[in-house]
Amino acid sequence: MYNDNPTLKFGKEKTIEEDKQGDVFFKEQVANKEDKDLKKFYIESYGCQMNFSDSEIVASILAEANYASTRNMEEADLILINTCSIREKAEQTVRKRLRIFDKLKKKRPGTLVGVLGCMAERLKAKLLEQEKLVDLVLGPDAYRDLPKLIATAEDGTKGINVHLSREETYADINPVRLGSNGVSAFVTIMRGCDNMCSFCVVPFTRGRERSRDTFSVVAECTELYQRGFKEVTLLGQNVDSYKWENPESKETVDFADLLELTAQIAPDLRVRFSTSHPKDITDKVLHNMAKYENICKYIHLPVQSGNSEVLKRMNRTYDREWYMDKVRAIRRIIPDCAISSDIIAGFCGETEEQHQETLSMIEFAQYSMSYMFFYSERPGTLAARKYEDDIPLEIKKRRLQEVIRLQNQISFEINRKDQGRIFKVLVEKESKKSADDLCGRNSQNKMIIFPREDVQVGTYVYVKVQEFTQATLKGVLVSEEEYKNSL
Ligand code: SAH
Ligand code: SF4
Ligand code: F3S
Repeated sequence: MYNDNPTLKFGKEKTIEEDKQGDVFFKEQVANKEDKDLKKFYIESYGCQMNFSDSEIVASILAEANYASTRNMEEADLILINTCSIREKAEQTVRKRLRIFDKLKKKRPGTLVGVLGCMAERLKAKLLEQEKLVDLVLGPDAYRDLPKLIATAEDGTKGINVHLSREETYADINPVRLGSNGVSAFVTIMRGCDNMCSFCVVPFTRGRERSRDTFSVVAECTELYQRGFKEVTLLGQNVDSYKWENPESKETVDFADLLELTAQIAPDLRVRFSTSHPKDITDKVLHNMAKYENICKYIHLPVQSGNSEVLKRMNRTYDREWYMDKVRAIRRIIPDCAISSDIIAGFCGETEEQHQETLSMIEFAQYSMSYMFFYSERPGTLAARKYEDDIPLEIKKRRLQEVIRLQNQISFEINRKDQGRIFKVLVEKESKKSADDLCGRNSQNKMIIFPREDVQVGTYVYVKVQEFTQATLKGVLVSEEEYKNSL
């Protein structure tokens, strides 16, 4: 399931599978409609958490238009694929899925196929030319148009809307929680990105940065809490540049303020966020994290490269020293905070020495985990226009392997240090390996497995760690008192 990890899962090509709970939430939303009146849609999502979140907005728009969701694409009247363009491989995965939908469409003529998301935005009408089976193409800001375009497509006219907006935040749409475990949910607080990192396609596929109305964010989180959710993750490509002006009081709310407002909803509602940009994360954010127990002690702070010259070519607008200072500030203000990262190996012109600096940064920052990639040139980006993609594939892959090996060692060592410690864990689900165990995450975002006993999903438990691997911790249940004494 995609929400194994609350951070933005960029480029991890996974699909949404609705579980029973997801169906229940969907039914709540369409409760006043008879099943027989409803058409069926099937949706798959790829790419980052924002795409998964958008699919929940799409589901909500479709519910209004008399569509019910199905997990079985064979019975769908409408098949949607929410796509990612971040690396070439992500687009190839989508094209493969389209071949499968094509076969299905031949068996069931009349089924509509729609491409949503970043690939729709990047390729626009070209997608309709290249992929004959596609009936609908909608970019990330055009989802309100979906019912209208479906209606035209049903009459045989292919529909496209890839208009990027400066205002759209879907603030008034209450997302249908697809594939939810009923415990943690994702809440989009801003859309687009103004950063123009030279390797990145996102500013072209998602448009200008805009922040969502603070009241609507807090209202959505409050409603989730009232429905029994215990964790919200505030989402944006660069959450630290969140900024919203109250039209009445003219006061501005920054990300640190929003974080505080969300934390104040309830002490047992955990708050997470992703992604932070090293140039924008402020000490005010760090102090608020330290102040509230329920703001999780975990920051995803992508470094991309450990070398200042490469960072300059990447247009990241910080250098190695600046990044190291941010890590020091986090360690000083929130001593128990875990930090994770995104790393690109083999960017244009990267020398062996510069690659070594990425490795030494991993050592320095002691990341609990990282998403690691080799550079994939994206058409139209600054890097594609300005720099030669000159690192041979074998070298990119070898450097990536070195990055992965080192990160794995460090994750393992960090987990070793957790042995014997007691953590507060929010129970999420059954462990994949055994029905006798449950699992959930600690504040630092680490998955911890423990015996089921009579524990309920959605509650907090205290677990003393006894075993560990590179990815997970395993332990036994202890009392709250024991936990408090250990602090
Ligand atoms: N907004 C986030 C990341 C968005 S994209 C941030 O600024 O940190 C997610 C990750 O994909 C990036 O952090 C980067 O590591 C990776 N990525 C983006 N473009 C890429 C490319 N062209 N090739 C390889 N990796 C890329
Ligand atoms: Fe892409 Fe940079 Fe924006 Fe992240 S901050 S989405 S890497 S342009
Ligand atoms: Fe991919 Fe678009 Fe997200 S390109 S990583 S789905 S913003």
